[in-house]
Amino acid sequence: MCGIYGEVGRGDVLKNAIDGLKALEYRGYDSAGIAFFNELQRIKVTKQKGMVASLEAKAGVDRWATRCPLSDPLDYNAVIAHTRWATHGKPASKNSHPFKQGRFVVAHNGIIENYKEFKTELENRFIFQSETDSEVIAALLEEEYSKLWDSQFTVDEFEEGFIDILTRENKDMTLEAIYNVSKKLKGAYALAILSEDVPNTIFATTNNPPLIVGSHGDATSTFVVTSDEAALPANSQIYRLKPGEIATLDDNAIKIYESTGEGVAPKGDPLFQPIQAKQQPSKDGYPHFMKKEINEIEKSLRATLESKDTEQFKRVNEFLKTADTIYLSACGTAYHACLLGKHYIEKNLGKQVVAEVASELRYMEHVGVALEGDPHKVAAIFVSQSGETADTIAAAELFKKQGAKIITITNNPNSTLANLSDEVININAGKEVAVAATKSFTSQAFAFNLLTGDTCVNCLEPFFAEAKRLQENTTQIKELVEKYKKVKNIFFIGRLADYATSKEASLKLKEISYIHSEAYQAGELKHGTIALIESKSVVCAIITDPKIKDKTMNAVYEVKARGAKTIVISPFTELKDNAVVDDFIEIRNVMHDLIPILSVIPMFNFAYYFSKQRGIDPDKPRNLAKSVTVE
Ligand code: G6P
Repeated sequence: MCGIYGEVGRGDVLKNAIDGLKALEYRGYDSAGIAFFNELQRIKVTKQKGMVASLEAKAGVDRWATRCPLSDPLDYNAVIAHTRWATHGKPASKNSHPFKQGRFVVAHNGIIENYKEFKTELENRFIFQSETDSEVIAALLEEEYSKLWDSQFTVDEFEEGFIDILTRENKDMTLEAIYNVSKKLKGAYALAILSEDVPNTIFATTNNPPLIVGSHGDATSTFVVTSDEAALPANSQIYRLKPGEIATLDDNAIKIYESTGEGVAPKGDPLFQPIQAKQQPSKDGYPHFMKKEINEIEKSLRATLESKDTEQFKRVNEFLKTADTIYLSACGTAYHACLLGKHYIEKNLGKQVVAEVASELRYMEHVGVALEGDPHKVAAIFVSQSGETADTIAAAELFKKQGAKIITITNNPNSTLANLSDEVININAGKEVAVAATKSFTSQAFAFNLLTGDTCVNCLEPFFAEAKRLQENTTQIKELVEKYKKVKNIFFIGRLADYATSKEASLKLKEISYIHSEAYQAGELKHGTIALIESKSVVCAIITDPKIKDKTMNAVYEVKARGAKTIVISPFTELKDNAVVDDFIEIRNVMHDLIPILSVIPMFNFAYYFSKQRGIDPDKPRNLAKSVTVE
């Protein structure tokens, strides 16, 4: 989780670092911080709660106040920066990275699981400003380095005044300190480190979370370290650090050192790979990425169909038909796509499916039993927009280790998850920037339908046309938001596939409008939750299946009888005139199998306008991140 950016070079490295951090905000934006050398070669750390834009202003002031030579074309400087998604300690300036202890400054991605055992002991010698696990790393480095420093001298040498230590030695000792501290840490970490004893040099290491070193665009003598290549301009040459490697970036070169267990040994220049030129995402005139992406649903659905590899779909379809066990797993919105996937596989292939969130699945006993049988008969489908979600990757790795076939449905075929998979289904939905997933959900669900159904691909025009109509139909939705803007609870109900979309509609509303919302199987409401229904409640029923239409309507009658306001989303227009339905959102009758995919679109717009109405930035809601890379 979180984003790291560091740079060594001539010119405005501070500006580059701020720009780099902005590109990493999808990994968290609770707070941000930056550290750089001032003119006395001391490190100045500037931190700010909130998004990178707030840090930018503060860092600009600090830069002049400390007379930091950050834009002098003759001077080199090193800077490390971080955007945070809080795990240990609330979002606050004091808990922002980088952390300084003694001469060391550290920016950290990941979680140190054993930090407490060190912190208690270190508290005798260090004053900790934060509640984080990460600050402990800086203290451990300072302590380890001090020991190495002290061990160089005899008392006599000190008495003779021998204190002429060469920078090279400081660098070696720093490498050794990093190596020794790494061995003590349990958990996940990617680190960018500065030391006041080694000016204008960045040290970087990882034990797993992604960390890249390389050049900044065409500037071959400006070196960068970052947790994601998204922070780099085109033409940058990159090298992905392997677990245990330590990199140094200074005014001459990047060097990689391998931890061998016998100290650190230089390995020589890394092999760099160029990154593809990429376009910066643009809102294209929309006020928010989320609205732009809702309005791209139809285009994305078409792109999902276009990228369909017929041979691959046949192969996966056959495998699903013969598999003994089928698991679907993901997190967040992608998990709701799995629930629709379960519906399609069970309905169209007649196979039973287990769909579980990834953070739970790998601890379930039945998984072990299935994998101990014949793992080649286990189909494991993982769904992830980014392909970088830590929980999903961890679950996929477990299945892979046991020999199961890994199938991934993703919007990022170059991702970590895609790289470990046997089959990669690219939904091809186009870049999704808003934290709340929209077009990726509809495309993931569509991919499941294409994988399992006998959809007549030449009959899909009405489906695409209806997606377009719904994404653009905002008049009715805005009226509904106005009507219900004061409510405190909104319930979504549905059965089978409509329950899956109810869950997604409810999640979207919670995520970006902070309204309390729950989704229930319509038939289950009367077994408890109905106790919450009163005259101020709003209940939205999604009803797309003729087989269960009347049963779901029973629940609408029940909540109406208790005073609730009711919204029904459905292709069954006769429900419009039913006295218990206050508001009716029509889905025009396209192919029955595909209607559930469309039924959620009005609720994406509902959540979006609700969020706007409440003055929230729907693209960056509090506490969330687009890609969650911690377990
Ligand atoms: C985060 C995001 C969610 C997303 C989930 C899974 O929690 O805030 O919007 O659905 O991660 O992301 P993925 O990239 O794996 O689909």
